[in-house]
Amino acid sequence: MKTGIIGGTGFYDPGLLENEKELMIATPFGDIQLKSGYYHDQQILFLPRHGEQHSVPPHLVNYRANIWALREAGAGVVLATAAVGSLNLEMQPGEIVLVDQFLDFTKSRPVTFYEGGEDGVLHVDVTNPYCTSVCRHLKETAEGLQIAVHDKGTYVCTEGPRYETAGEIQMFQMLGGDLVGMTSVPEVVLAREAGLCYATLALVTNYAAGISPHPLSHQEVVEVMGRSQAVLRRLIFA
Ligand code: HPA
Repeated sequence: MKTGIIGGTGFYDPGLLENEKELMIATPFGDIQLKSGYYHDQQILFLPRHGEQHSVPPHLVNYRANIWALREAGAGVVLATAAVGSLNLEMQPGEIVLVDQFLDFTKSRPVTFYEGGEDGVLHVDVTNPYCTSVCRHLKETAEGLQIAVHDKGTYVCTEGPRYETAGEIQMFQMLGGDLVGMTSVPEVVLAREAGLCYATLALVTNYAAGISPHPLSHQEVVEVMGRSQAVLRRLIFA
């Protein structure tokens, strides 16, 4: 079984792969280019969610094509990285959170592979949307590597591409959110529909709007991600 990696903001190259090749996978939602390579004897498939140049905004990512392509190419497990803002003062910039729940505040995205007609209708169970066995494995691996991780956190997914207002962040705190980002939904849901074992390694890049002492910027997110990328990569590849 191959492992897929979806690289989020600031994680545009898998690194560490041998015999790297580009694959073009046709899907009903468009063609997707993947990198394929080996880490020891494990075949890895890599896909940068926003494109290598961060040219696709979160609300326009072709989530269905990405997940379809990973499954078509043989992925059974998918590890996704995600830059997130933190609403929870215990989850600090630079720290990794293994997300276990989401709250969906997206508005305009295709959310399913099953649109009726020949495809039928599917009401998929997402009681625990992120793959619990892979999350457990990630937690144990992190402990072995002495990498501190938070082993749960609720990810609030906003539509973007703008950041949030301070008022929205207060509301998300009241609702029990820990982290805010723009991409986990529908990605995790589609992965579940596709039968993939999917986990998100969220990297806190900033405190969320109104908690951060300064206005948010994409540059800050990319810089913090750049500093933390190596540890994230170490955990994923281990
Ligand atoms: N809000 C939404 N998405 C994000 C943030 C944020 O504060 N930081 C990184 N991605």
